Amino acid sequence: MSESAKLSFKGQDYEFPVITGTENESAIDIAKLRASSGLITLDPGYKNTGATKSAITFLDGEEGILRYRGYRIEDLAEKSTFLEVSYLLIYGELPTQAQYESFSKEITHHTLVHEDIKKILEGFPSNAHPMGVLSSMICALTAFYPDSLNPNRTEEEVNLSIIRLIAKMPTFAAWAYKNEMGHPVNYPDNALDYCSNFLKMMFALPAEKYDVDPVVASALDKLLILHADHEQNCSTSTVRIVGSSQASIYASISAGINALWGPLHGGANQSVIEMLEAIKADGGDAKKYLDKAKDKNDPFRLMGFGHRVYKNFDPRAKIIKKAADDVLEKLGVNDPVLDIAKELEQAALNDQYFIDRQLYPNVDFYSGIIYRALGIPTDMFTVMFALGRLPGWIAQWKEMRENGEPIGRPRQVYTGENERDYVSMNKR
Ligand code: MLT
Repeated sequence: MSESAKLSFKGQDYEFPVITGTENESAIDIAKLRASSGLITLDPGYKNTGATKSAITFLDGEEGILRYRGYRIEDLAEKSTFLEVSYLLIYGELPTQAQYESFSKEITHHTLVHEDIKKILEGFPSNAHPMGVLSSMICALTAFYPDSLNPNRTEEEVNLSIIRLIAKMPTFAAWAYKNEMGHPVNYPDNALDYCSNFLKMMFALPAEKYDVDPVVASALDKLLILHADHEQNCSTSTVRIVGSSQASIYASISAGINALWGPLHGGANQSVIEMLEAIKADGGDAKKYLDKAKDKNDPFRLMGFGHRVYKNFDPRAKIIKKAADDVLEKLGVNDPVLDIAKELEQAALNDQYFIDRQLYPNVDFYSGIIYRALGIPTDMFTVMFALGRLPGWIAQWKEMRENGEPIGRPRQVYTGENERDYVSMNKR
């Protein structure tokens, strides 16, 4: 028997269906709420609102579970490559060997970008934040592939845009960095795998020989997998809502990059390192900062601890912590900022105050540490997150389109002035 929920308001009863997902999450379907009762719901930040039904990513914040298309993140991070996981997210199944080879080949084929995009890049001052540069270049693809503006494209045409996005994103990401450094850009090397190609475009200099360190490439691949999707977070919701107006896929992904940029979302890993650097500049006393974090009257906030949806632990953080330990050991990195990070991590994991408040190091804490150890500059951290999140955004955009979802159009409770007479300027 299907369940329902009742609402009583002003002596009248209303009944709404309750729908249940495959993991037994239940939701009251209020699609007819306003039409039947005149009421709307108010849910700032949408923390209690399911904006969509989705078959891509399942997460259970209480149990610390994260699965892409039903597969455990732990298994994917250990056994798959980032491109395999991208295929899984976008097309719903793990690829066969033949599908994987053809997908990788197509991506490799499209890594080059139009030469005129370089002119756009050259227009940015070198102090431009690479996230702004990245989102602008992705949005510029609408100009180079104007067919993407047509909302009625065939599946094949949409697929080509998807391939182009995955293929060109590392090129744009590396170029955003080169712009910042004032170095010439490197072209893709299609003999390399996805991450090695990115690292080479990012770090190689014309005057020096550059060999990609396989430890670095493999750590990066894992990091990208861990960031590949996270259901309806801020940037993903942005991609879906922009896409719901039938804007081009490039414009939708560009909007997602901008949403990710903020320090409360993808910018958090950058904030972690900035916080650690500030602690170092102040003498490196981690204990002092833990005490500050506990003091209600102190505005200091520990960055990279706790999570909006994971209440006990972030499953990505568990995997990434191990990767961080391996990378630091294998690369033999000696960095006082990372020593402070270790000290903070240990102190917080063993301090009852932090345990009681579920303030455990999250994925941003460890990803910041690894990126720093890999030699990636702080303001590129969010770009790395975007590189990882891209297949998730694409999968969510595609699902939204295939579900034929209506345009996103929330309502509001108006709290402004009631109607009043216009006052001419000389009387104000
Ligand atoms: C993410 O991976 O998107 C972040 O952890 C933020 C979130 O899920 O809200």
